[in-house]
Amino acid sequence: MSEKRRIVVTSALPYANGDIHIGHLVEYLQTDFWVRFQKMCGHECLYICADDTHGTPIMIRAHNEGITPEELIARSHAEHLRDFTDFEVEFSHYGSTNCQENREFCNYIFKKMEDGGHISSKMIPQLYCEHDKMFLPDRFVRGGCPSCGAAGQYGDSCDSCSATYPAEELKDPTCAICGRQPVTRSSEHLFFDLDHYRNYLQQWIPGHTARDVANKLLEWFGEPLRSWDISRDAPYFGFEIPGHPGKFFYVWVDAPIGYMASLENWCKANSEDFANWWNNPKAELYHFIGKDIVRFHCLFWPAMLHCSGFKGPDQVFVHGFLTVNGEKMSKSKGTFISARTFLDHVEAQYLRFYYACKLNGTTDDVDLNLDDFIGRVNSDLVGKITNLASRGAQMLHKNLDGRASTPDPSGAELINLARSRANAIAEAYEQRDFSRVMVEIRDIADQANQYFDTQAPWKLVKTDPEATRAVLTSTLNLFRIMAIYLKPVLPLYAARVEELFGDAPYTWDDLNTTFESRPVAPYSYLAKRVERAQVERVVEASKSGTAPSAPTAPPPAKPPAPVKETIDIDTFSKVDLRVAKVISAELVEGADKLLRLSIDLGTGQPRQIFAGIRKAYAPESLVGRSIVVVANLAPRKMRFGLSEGMALAAASRDGDLFVISPDSGASPGDTVA
Ligand code: 2FM
Ligand code: ZN
Repeated sequence: MSEKRRIVVTSALPYANGDIHIGHLVEYLQTDFWVRFQKMCGHECLYICADDTHGTPIMIRAHNEGITPEELIARSHAEHLRDFTDFEVEFSHYGSTNCQENREFCNYIFKKMEDGGHISSKMIPQLYCEHDKMFLPDRFVRGGCPSCGAAGQYGDSCDSCSATYPAEELKDPTCAICGRQPVTRSSEHLFFDLDHYRNYLQQWIPGHTARDVANKLLEWFGEPLRSWDISRDAPYFGFEIPGHPGKFFYVWVDAPIGYMASLENWCKANSEDFANWWNNPKAELYHFIGKDIVRFHCLFWPAMLHCSGFKGPDQVFVHGFLTVNGEKMSKSKGTFISARTFLDHVEAQYLRFYYACKLNGTTDDVDLNLDDFIGRVNSDLVGKITNLASRGAQMLHKNLDGRASTPDPSGAELINLARSRANAIAEAYEQRDFSRVMVEIRDIADQANQYFDTQAPWKLVKTDPEATRAVLTSTLNLFRIMAIYLKPVLPLYAARVEELFGDAPYTWDDLNTTFESRPVAPYSYLAKRVERAQVERVVEASKSGTAPSAPTAPPPAKPPAPVKETIDIDTFSKVDLRVAKVISAELVEGADKLLRLSIDLGTGQPRQIFAGIRKAYAPESLVGRSIVVVANLAPRKMRFGLSEGMALAAASRDGDLFVISPDSGASPGDTVA
């Protein structure tokens, strides 16, 4: 094993005013694969992220919904984290840019920029709505394209002819909030003089980005780098700039600084020193981003960090966009799919598997072809890989007491061959070439299936039970190696495989161990075929979903349920709230509201509880999740069995249910106060 590395990894912070969708997941899933791989190899690796909470769109959306921006971002934070958790994305910390630590980092960095003479000010004209009393960001102005005349274009670029222009040049502009005609007004803005960092950046870029990304960026250096407008006028939901009343940091200033703040949050929670993680020359820092935000991460950001004495990222990993069936995601075609809609009908692990098959560490776009998705999951994950476990374990139990022996010579040879791929697979993971990883695993699966079919254990068992036991032992070992290789991509699946073999959580070193002369647990669920109808339901549900990009009228707000009668602290402290992990979850026949959960409260003794959350959760989506339960509720005898506790869930005014989970880090049995 190589020397232990210390690594901080980030994904771009999602905006707090929209749902997580499958396009976002291209990034969060690949980052999660990479981080989980590093952790499996024994490295210290943190996955840091947060909601990007500031800016005009968030302010306006909150206004339209009749809530404060703080309420809006709190709601989004909970929803985003729930979506990520259900997609098995495991952050070390998932923060918010609207936190005190971020404000302090922003102020500190800005002061360095200002004191160093890198901030200048200029009057700039901008469209202003006298009715809404605010300057309008480009996306909040509509009008005719100054180039081709197409109507209804945004204030920055034309969808029809792709021209880019300043918003003031739009023909007959209107305010997207109220529909009135804006006026042009000038106000003073603060600029970061990026050209002061020209030489630094020119040297920095080639060593810290892929070649194609660097080449594109270096095209900008043919002329002086334009100064960057970092201020916005009030009203603005964000941080006011110290010494500049009424001016706020542009959201793109405090967003990347949010990486630092979120890391600082993690450090505080874990008694760690920020400097040992960010500014430690031995620690590595990587940003995963999409190709649309390269300018922010590879020009402004390294310059800001350099200017303020912080280490820059070691690499910025840039990926492409998602297309669905070869086209841009489309609301009318039902391919603009939110994470939640996907989860409502299809298990998360299949999208993880499919994206891994498609991602190769380059900036190429990734296509989710829905037919191919069904085909690959069914033929490879279920047909070639999972079937080896189900057939192997079931035969061993049916005929041979469920006990493994040692691999036969030809099986042992294949096992060694599968192990010998470890370096190639590790290197592919390291390079983010997940598709290569999957090709290697598929090769092992093909060889294992060929072996299984040739040995024909279902026939062999009639004449030679011990030879059969050896064949099944080999088969199960081949499967186990594949599960270890797959663990960064399919962590929940791998956890179930660990249970099957009675193994401790797999690390990369476990590739060298053999499962032999031990009993295997009875086969229980790992994966099943995806039916076309499930995918059709996802598409259908996405057609009706609306995610308006322009502001809309507020929905009528329902009043919250009245607060119950006051209780004193002694009464409250009698309630024993605990963190529990869901071991299994299943439907309850005859009870269409209930799920039967088996939970672990850290006592080693599983407990059964019934929770009325069936309409909101597919049972499999809860397995492995940490939840909060009332641990000392008197057991209740129900028609379906004994319920020994209660799972906590929030119930919205519209009757939606949201199971309550602690942030990652909490363990079964921890108290909740
Ligand atoms: O493009 C976006 O979705 C931004 N919210 C990403 C911010 S990444 C970082 F700078 F915080
Ligand atoms: Zn207006």
